[in-house]
Amino acid sequence: MANESPYRRLFQPGNIGGLQLRNRVIMGIYPTKYAQDSQVTDRLLWFFRTRARGGAALIVVEGPCIDHPRDYTGGTQLRLDEDSFLPGLRNLTGAIHAEGAKAFTHLSFPPFLGGRSGRVSLVDQSTPADFGALAGKFGKAASQAREAGFDGVEVQAGWGHLLSRLLSPASNRRTDDYGGVLANRARFLLETVAAIRKATGADFPIQVKLAVKDYEPGGFDLEEAQAVAVMLEKAGVASILVTAGVGGKTRRWGQPPQALPEGVLAPLAAAIKGAVSIPVIAIGKIKHPQTAEDILAKGQADFIGLVRPLIADPDWPNKAAAGKAEDIRGCSTCLHDCVGGVPELDRACTVNPYTGREGQIKIEPAAKRKKVVVVGGGPAGLQAAITAAERGHAVHILERDSSLGGVFASPIIQAYKSDVTELPRYLVHRAEQLGVKVTLKSKVDADTVLREQPDAVVIAMGSGFAIPRIPGLDDVKWVGARRIWAAPTDIKGKVAVIGGGSVGCETADLLADRGCQVTVLEMLPEILNDMQSVPKDELLGNLKQKQIAVVTNAKVTKVEAGRLLYQDAEGQEHEVPMDTLVVATGGRPNKKLGDELQAKVAEVLYAGDCDQPGTGGMAIRSGLAVGMKI
Ligand SMILES: Cc1cc2nc3c(=O)[nH]c(=O)nc-3n(C[C@H](O)[C@H](O)[C@H](O)COP(=O)(O)O)c2cc1C
Ligand code: SF4
Repeated sequence: MANESPYRRLFQPGNIGGLQLRNRVIMGIYPTKYAQDSQVTDRLLWFFRTRARGGAALIVVEGPCIDHPRDYTGGTQLRLDEDSFLPGLRNLTGAIHAEGAKAFTHLSFPPFLGGRSGRVSLVDQSTPADFGALAGKFGKAASQAREAGFDGVEVQAGWGHLLSRLLSPASNRRTDDYGGVLANRARFLLETVAAIRKATGADFPIQVKLAVKDYEPGGFDLEEAQAVAVMLEKAGVASILVTAGVGGKTRRWGQPPQALPEGVLAPLAAAIKGAVSIPVIAIGKIKHPQTAEDILAKGQADFIGLVRPLIADPDWPNKAAAGKAEDIRGCSTCLHDCVGGVPELDRACTVNPYTGREGQIKIEPAAKRKKVVVVGGGPAGLQAAITAAERGHAVHILERDSSLGGVFASPIIQAYKSDVTELPRYLVHRAEQLGVKVTLKSKVDADTVLREQPDAVVIAMGSGFAIPRIPGLDDVKWVGARRIWAAPTDIKGKVAVIGGGSVGCETADLLADRGCQVTVLEMLPEILNDMQSVPKDELLGNLKQKQIAVVTNAKVTKVEAGRLLYQDAEGQEHEVPMDTLVVATGGRPNKKLGDELQAKVAEVLYAGDCDQPGTGGMAIRSGLAVGMKI
């Protein structure tokens, strides 16, 4: 495989300590939260088995509890502190090994213990004896990990957890042997490494996940990180995975969002690589195999860490190895479903409808090949078409626009957040591979559909517009937010946006870039309730920097030419002058065409927003479900 791949370096075998890895792709830590009663579930096992099967060389499995109950977060967290948890973990490591990959477990400890009332800062309040005991717990956990079949451990010195908080002069204000000069701030990290080494022996690889830069005023910086890397190498650490940021507002560096470029942390990895001779792993928004190959070619790192790209496509390594990068279902860097989860599935993925259900969903050939017409070529329609075609049906998409992909594929979205266009690109490519027939600029009425004489019709036309009941709305010119993303508009001057969800705020951001003076009005006490913390902080930063006015608890009472009136929480009326009104209050189901076809076609199904307006992930999952039903 290595010879065929255009990514020659990425598919060279490599070593971490004495452990040989089949290539340079390492899956970094991602807490699936799929454990139950802290035991490995089928679901968790399948999640990691699938990533091992997809070609990753090493998988860092989510961090278990090592000192119950002190660091226990609940039944969705694995445990390593008692023998009763080992059989399940052995199944897990066995499953990963059976696919040709190796497995590390991730050992971590939080910086605080206790609830809000009795919060204890371990950085400030631990005694030297406490540190000694805790290092022993890391050692015991590592030896249990070895018992459970893990090939090594990763020690967390990032993510704002205890070890990174101790390293940082911004958070470590101790005056004893664990505070002050760098050798003291690094003391507990080195004691932890020594305890693991003692408990497991010299041949058991220890990797350290090191946040090499806090991005906090007066925090841990790269120069100190280089010195710590040298200390770790001397202490027998086998490899260093380079991350950055320590949580809160600096989390963007540990979980790079759309606004940061690909491979953003690679220069930091290069700086660490310059200081040590043990392998260094670069991680952080390395989306494409070519980026990974370039990082290796430039000598910035020895291995490549991936998390979200493998959540989005577990077969990323195998596809890259086969020289088929275009077949990869790319992560859109949305930090949505993989962070916040979704009600029926917990942690999932916006672009990959299989994530979290790897062992459950099987695409079986249909009993009878049917003629399927899909009305609408947005993400839900494309996914439904793909799944139906994978099952052997003859599929024809009717799309009224001149291209597939819906609003996600629009050049305006491409310019604003290009990561999002990975999804339509992949879906269109996959549909082409499967021979799905496409008619663009099609009429999408009942006669056109019936002329195709379909056995089944999938309606995936997107939602209708949820027009709010606001006095005066019928008498003024207003624009739906989605239209602004779909095609160029000439909106200028003062703009009022009704709706402070992600669509409303991103639209405000876009219009501010075009020189508009924008006010966002939201009836709830907060905006952006539908976004997770990292992208939300990014967008809030943009709104502030671009002087976009945000009014919460605003009940819009009237609109008329040139102005909008709203009541605040106290019932006081205010006025917002405006030249253009933008409405971003969501969608409503759109089943009219489906209803017309019900009596005339054997199967009529709905996919995506036209059935239930919601997120991109909901649309994709509903497309898959519909494609499997036909
Ligand atoms: C949902 C989510 C949860 C994560 N949780 C952790 C964590 O608990 N500890 C940690 O060190 N890193 C965590 N990470 C960070 C990843 O390990 C990785 O460093 C980061 O996502 C950058 O890699 P990527 O761009 O390939 O996703 C998490 C990442 C994601 C997306
Ligand atoms: S949910 Fe979004 S950020 Fe997370 S892996 Fe999927 S596409 Fe990437």
